[in-house]
Amino acid sequence: MALILPRVESKAEDGRRSVKSFVLRRSRLAPYQKEALELYSDKYVIPFGPEVLDFEQVFGNTNPVIIEIGFGMGHSTQRIASQMPLTNFLAIEVFINGFTKLLANVGRNEIQNIRLIRFDAVEVLQTMISQSSVLGFHIFFPDPWPKKKHHKRRLIQKEFAQLLAEKLVAGGYIYCVTDWQEYADQMLEVFATIPTLYNPHNGFSPPHSWRPTTNFEEKGLHKRHIINEVWVEKSRE
Ligand SMILES: C[S@@+](CC[C@H](N)C(=O)[O-])C[C@H]1O[C@@H](n2cnc3c(N)ncnc32)[C@H](O)[C@@H]1O
Repeated sequence: MALILPRVESKAEDGRRSVKSFVLRRSRLAPYQKEALELYSDKYVIPFGPEVLDFEQVFGNTNPVIIEIGFGMGHSTQRIASQMPLTNFLAIEVFINGFTKLLANVGRNEIQNIRLIRFDAVEVLQTMISQSSVLGFHIFFPDPWPKKKHHKRRLIQKEFAQLLAEKLVAGGYIYCVTDWQEYADQMLEVFATIPTLYNPHNGFSPPHSWRPTTNFEEKGLHKRHIINEVWVEKSRE
């Protein structure tokens, strides 16, 4: 069955992707998820395209924008957005199951401050997001790609960190959380190489109480993994 509406990109072309941080798998959608695509795409889904987004036009206001990359099932996206009604959230995910779940919740509850994009976040940032326009990035439990031969698939690498930094407003932040110790160390090292970013905690950050526990975090905690938080900010000069 053709599930993919024009506004929901089916695939970021593998050959074009700079970092292959995800593998797309076929996924069966429940009727409510298909219905969500039909009912709510026009209002809440932004198609991938060559144009730089005008946030004011997208959200209908001038509130600051936070971009979440890889929101999974979107539970924490929704919780955080409801705690911060005066902040806009652009939620990017390639996993269609989670994407349609969040879309259904956003549509049914008429949540005003979330928009969704289903596409490779690297390309979205490169193409659709203007420089110095984003208040913060939330990247919660990015795929750890534990095997050494797969480390190159990890999202947090120097080039991507540089891209994130360019998109932040002065004083904006990048907030990453992982249960994979060695990836957490890599995050600290990578961000430390970007001259415009600084780490106010000089290492891992204390936990932020406003961040709800995510699905992947539950799994990590079940395996007794340590959760590390990384918070860096863009310098104001
Ligand atoms: C390990 S899951 C974590 C999901 C959620 N943040 C959580 O903590 O439960 C990582 C998610 O990132 C998504 N992802 C990976 N690379 C991505 C990319 N380049 N663009 C958009 N989403 C991506 C995957 O599809 C996956 O759902």
